[in-house]
Order: sequence, then C-alpha cells, then structure tokens
Amino acid sequence: MRNSAPARTRELIGRLAVEHRLDLKEYEELVEGFTPEIAAYAAGRAVELRTRVYGTDVYIRGLIEISSYCKNDCLYCGLRRSNRMAERYRLDAGEILACCDAGYELGFRTFVLQGGEDTAFTDEVACGIVSSIKEAHPDCALTLSLGERNRGSYQALFDAGADRYLLRHETADPAHYARLHPADLSWDRRMACLRDLKDIGYQVGCGFMVGSPFQTPATLAADLKFIEEFRPAMVGIGPFVPHHATPFAHEPAGTADMTCYLLSLLRLIGPELLLPATTALGTIDPCGRERGMQAGANVVMPNLSPTDVRKKYELYDNKACAGSEAAEGLTDLSRRMEAIGYRVVVDRGDAKRRMEAGREGSAD
Ligand code: 5AD
Repeated sequence: MRNSAPARTRELIGRLAVEHRLDLKEYEELVEGFTPEIAAYAAGRAVELRTRVYGTDVYIRGLIEISSYCKNDCLYCGLRRSNRMAERYRLDAGEILACCDAGYELGFRTFVLQGGEDTAFTDEVACGIVSSIKEAHPDCALTLSLGERNRGSYQALFDAGADRYLLRHETADPAHYARLHPADLSWDRRMACLRDLKDIGYQVGCGFMVGSPFQTPATLAADLKFIEEFRPAMVGIGPFVPHHATPFAHEPAGTADMTCYLLSLLRLIGPELLLPATTALGTIDPCGRERGMQAGANVVMPNLSPTDVRKKYELYDNKACAGSEAAEGLTDLSRRMEAIGYRVVVDRGDAKRRMEAGREGSAD
C-alpha cells in the first residue's frame, strides 16, 4: 500500500490541475501526502498553469504599514494589544502620500495600506487618505488591509476609490479559529466581512498562516476548500513565525517547504490567482521569494514604509525588511527574479480572468 501513496497523490494533483476542485477528504490526502518529491511535482504543474496565465511576469505591490496600533489581541501576533513592549506608531496622511509618491517613482503601480485595527482610522480619515492617493496616482490600484470594519465602512472606502481588500480568514475551521483568537473575535464575523467585501465589488484577498498552532491536515483541507469555493482574487499565505511577546512564543514556526507546497496547490485551484511570495516566507528562508515563485506565486510585496517604522511593525520576530524586501531594493529584487527567469513589471497587476471555458460560477 505504501508504494501506491505517491501515485494516488500525483493523481489528485493531476486532477486538481485540470478541474481546479477536489473533495474535502481529497485535499486532506494531498496535504498528508506531502513529500519533497510530491512538492516538486506539484510545483511543476503549478508553474505550468501560472505561466499560461501570467507568463513570467512578477507583479509588485508597495506595502505601507500605516499603523501598529491594534485593538485586537490575537494570540499569534506581535501587535496584539496586550503586548506592552511593542512600540506603537501611526503615519499621517502626508507621510502615507509621501510613501506612495516615492513608490511611484520606483515603479510601483499598486499600494497596499496595511495596519492594525487602529480606531484612529475612522471612515472619514481613511476615506480622505484613499481619495487623495487616487487623486495623486489615478493609474494605480489601491489595496487596503485594515482588518474588520462594518459593511458601511467598506462601502465608503470603496466609493472613495479603494480597489482591493486583504483580510486573511486565518483558518476556515471555526474551532481552530477560536484557539488562535480571544473570545471577542468571531469566525462568523470574519467570514461575513469577506462576503461583504466581495459583494461590494472589491478584488478580495484571504489567506492563512502555514504551521499555526493547532493546525492539522484537516484544517488545511478546509482552507483549500474554502478558497476553492469563495474564489478570491488573491490569497496570502506565509509560515507562522513565533513572536517572543505572545502566548505562542515557544510554538514551532511553519516551514518554507510546506508553504511552497501549499502555494502550488493554491495555484492549481486558481490558475488566475494573485499569489504573493510573502515577507514571512522571505524571513524564514533567504531564498523564500525565489522559492515562492518557483512554486507558483506571481506577486511580491516589498516594504515601502518609512524605514524608521519598519521594525516597529513587528508581527513576528526578525521580520525581514531590508535588501530585496525593501522597496529601495527593487533593483536587487529584479535582478534576483531575472536570475531565475522572471521579470518584475511596472503594472497595476490586476488578476487576469480565467481563460478556460466550461466552468460555472464566474460570478466575480
Ligand atoms: N507569524 C506569521 N504571520 C503572522 N501574522 C500575524 N502574526 C503572525 C505571525 N506570528 C499574519 C496574520 C495576519 C497578517 C497581518 O499577518 O495572518 O492576518
């Protein structure tokens, strides 16, 4: 029986590459079937699909970390409110706009405003920032990643000009969610936020950490099934990396190998997905960005925050923010991508539409 396991896993990968869907149990088998050989096979199929849709283009996003204040207390995150050691900062509208201007000069055509859930960013303040960025750079896409807000707020930000919204679902398993978050955060509410965002018309990104505490093949299978069904435009995944001032300080980190394997499976689920090789992947592996691309990713998000705040936006220990993680290191990043056959492009980098025929539910 043992010998037939790789054959079965390959069959599932082959089917996923064609049909872009599997049953929950089959996803679980795929996760459990992970070996370096299987991962290499999945990566080959994933790169094939990615190349068919996006060629060798790598899309870049300028990441601006606008605030490290957060009202939440997520057990894994260094920005959690009960971390009294965290140095908090907040950028003002002028500073954020200056980052966009600098980024535009460097070649960025998408800006991502990311922050903790900071109540200072009221709708009025946030909408003002969004509209001034869109006014200054009408040819750019604007992505927000500001956590949970009510539907009216999401609508107002969309009306002000925001194009995309990133809100990781963190885990598609409600019981797992409850073990990663304090009782006042609800899985149902998070899922409702994602539905609202999609309904309003945002290009939506969800995602999860790889190797988070209490994660199992079953919870990962639920993540894959959720993504298959929800059909987001983007999916952000990266390894869990412990932060010393959180309850998970002594939990093991996720691995680059498993992250890359899951990137490949996500590419097989969604050939047109925007899939970043994340900073967390670049943090635990110096070749993380390259390995992400070679597993099927097509997006990188260099740090465009003012240099003095980058270390303060500390979601996890030793977060990479220098060299090719930094927007100023774009030439370095471009060189590294060219060395493996990819090309960083000056482009908004919107998701391409799915090209295959015969698939139902192209609602988005
Ligand atoms: N390790 C890896 N990723 C983390 N995030 C938060 N804390 C950590 C950590 N310790 C991720 C979460 C969150 C995003 C902003 O960063 O998935 O959604």
